[in-house]
Amino acid sequence: MQRLPSVQAMQRYPVKHFFLFPFFFLFVFIVVQFSSGPNSKSYDICNSSATGLSELKYNLKGLLEIQNNRKKRLTDICYDVNRNLLGFYGLNTRKLDHIISVDQQHLLYCYVPKVACTNWKRILMILSGNANTSDPLSIVANEVHPRHVWQTLADFNTSESQTRLNNYYKFMFVRHPFERLVSAYVNKFHKSYTDYFQIKYGREIVKNYRTNPEKEALARGHDVTFSEFVQYLIDPKSRERRPFDEHWRPMHELCEPCRIKYDIIGKYETLNEDSWLVLEDPRIDQKVKFPPGLKKSTASVVKSYLSQIPESHLIKLYYLYELDFKLFRYDFDVESDTNGL
Ligand SMILES: *[C@@H]1O[C@H](CO)[C@@H](O)[C@H](O)[C@H]1NC(C)=O
Ligand SMILES: *[C@@H]1O[C@H](CO)[C@@H](O)[C@H](O)[C@H]1NC(C)=O
Ligand SMILES: *[C@@H]1O[C@H](CO)[C@@H](O)[C@H](O)[C@H]1NC(C)=O
Repeated sequence: MQRLPSVQAMQRYPVKHFFLFPFFFLFVFIVVQFSSGPNSKSYDICNSSATGLSELKYNLKGLLEIQNNRKKRLTDICYDVNRNLLGFYGLNTRKLDHIISVDQQHLLYCYVPKVACTNWKRILMILSGNANTSDPLSIVANEVHPRHVWQTLADFNTSESQTRLNNYYKFMFVRHPFERLVSAYVNKFHKSYTDYFQIKYGREIVKNYRTNPEKEALARGHDVTFSEFVQYLIDPKSRERRPFDEHWRPMHELCEPCRIKYDIIGKYETLNEDSWLVLEDPRIDQKVKFPPGLKKSTASVVKSYLSQIPESHLIKLYYLYELDFKLFRYDFDVESDTNGL
């Protein structure tokens, strides 16, 4: 059995921890260094170098209360939109290709791209015994993404999937829908490592949403603007042509949180504490630490991207992701204090 932190440890920042002040200033220094402008490294959520903050203990009771509130809200909203009537029975489990099954630990993790999924996959490599290390960051990011590395519920038949859904420890992580979109845009179109997305989507976006497109842009799709990307998203014809890519498909479609009762709904906004909470669970029998990350405020960067979008488009964008906003209690305003609740 797991030892629970003492009451004192559960108080978030007890005064007697004044010796942490030097770390606090280091923290502030690093935050200031890393949080500025669209060209900063803010979006490299997979590379969070050690900060000395990993030993912080979180308020377990408070976190569990937040979890209860998140789950209660999910149930209520799902009820309102008539989505919870059947549970996972009747779900086409063959479509649940984002729910990774780690049989060694009896756990299911639904990954949402752009929500710290690389680090979570690294952790799962260790928990499944497929990595020879206890340091997640020593695992190369490219090694955790290929589809064949993982078994998802889509790889099992219905009864095998349902057994897992009934018995395994289940968690998922979400993020403010607009932040996720900006992150996807920056990562796939603006500063992308390959031209895969530019060829696959960029050319189509330039062709459909740019007036008088240049020949080169039509051929390469390399300079899609955020505003053009948004026009692509809110155009109903886009989804008729082909399904949304996983990077911008609504989170509830990837993870089915109305039909599947997740034990933990983590948020990117509270990534460090929620990851800690997941890994503290007694059902996980191996000690692994989530790579300590800085809580970088990307809100101002996101706002500067959103400010390029006409209000009428923003409202359409909101409605496109409305259920994600509601289910996971996100405010239209990316800086709202309630986003972490
Ligand atoms: C993370 O970033 C640091 C500094 O920017 C770099 O030195 C390091 O190699 C990166 N680590 C990984 C795993 O990409
Ligand atoms: C782990 O390390 C051992 C000993 O160094 C080696 O024999 C084994 O092949 C490694 N396993 C993996 C999955 O790399
Ligand atoms: C599902 O797969 C298991 C294991 O391969 C097999 O024993 C079982 O008969 C299958 N069930 C159905 C309904 O196909």
